[in-house]
Amino acid sequence: MRLPKAGTIEIAPSILSADFAKLADEIAVIESAGVSMVHLDVMDGHFVPNITIGPPVIAKLRKVSNLVFDSHLMISEPAKYAERFVEAGVDHITFHIEASVQAEMLIDKLHKLGVTAGICLNPDTPVEAIETVAPLCDMVLVMTVRPGFGAQNFIPEAAKKIIRVREIVGPDIRVEVDGGIDAQATPIVVSYGADTLVAGNAIFSKTDRIAAINAIRGAAG
Ligand code: DX5
Ligand code: ZN
Repeated sequence: MRLPKAGTIEIAPSILSADFAKLADEIAVIESAGVSMVHLDVMDGHFVPNITIGPPVIAKLRKVSNLVFDSHLMISEPAKYAERFVEAGVDHITFHIEASVQAEMLIDKLHKLGVTAGICLNPDTPVEAIETVAPLCDMVLVMTVRPGFGAQNFIPEAAKKIIRVREIVGPDIRVEVDGGIDAQATPIVVSYGADTLVAGNAIFSKTDRIAAINAIRGAAG
């Protein structure tokens, strides 16, 4: 397993707001800032109203980076495509509980394929929806924006669900938060129990990506 063991705060820059014409360079910069993970947002134009990258792009990025590839599948049929993402070189696959999947089976399948597994819930989805499957995962992802686009505003009420998720999973499973995370939101979500912070716009909208990562790191305490 390449996902860092729980117990540390990790920043997972989301390349959604990076310059897609220079992805290798963008990833090299965040790697030089000392992050261990990169967050890859996969959208299919069906589960969410936007289309981004898929296995062919990820396979090319795999050749130029040793970072842990944290893939976030915002797609309607994650089970159908799981192998292709594993073949492309991802280390971790998060899928959505709202994608009407047999979640337990898919988590098992991901583990058998040799990757770590994550379940994700949208801001409008109650924590009860993942209560039984969350303990089977390696990381649980709490969305603090409605998925589909970068640079949206952090939804404070959605972040509060982190508290209950952390109660359910205990200290050994990562709790990731995604959407509108910047240096201001960071202390709030960390106090609720998040340990894995996805940030896209807060990093890639800045000329100095390294300073932006360090600002979030500093805010995490
Ligand atoms: C939203 C994506 C997020 C998002 C993060 O659909 O899953 O990963 O792009 O970007 P910011 O930090 O800009 O909200
Ligand atoms: Zn994401």
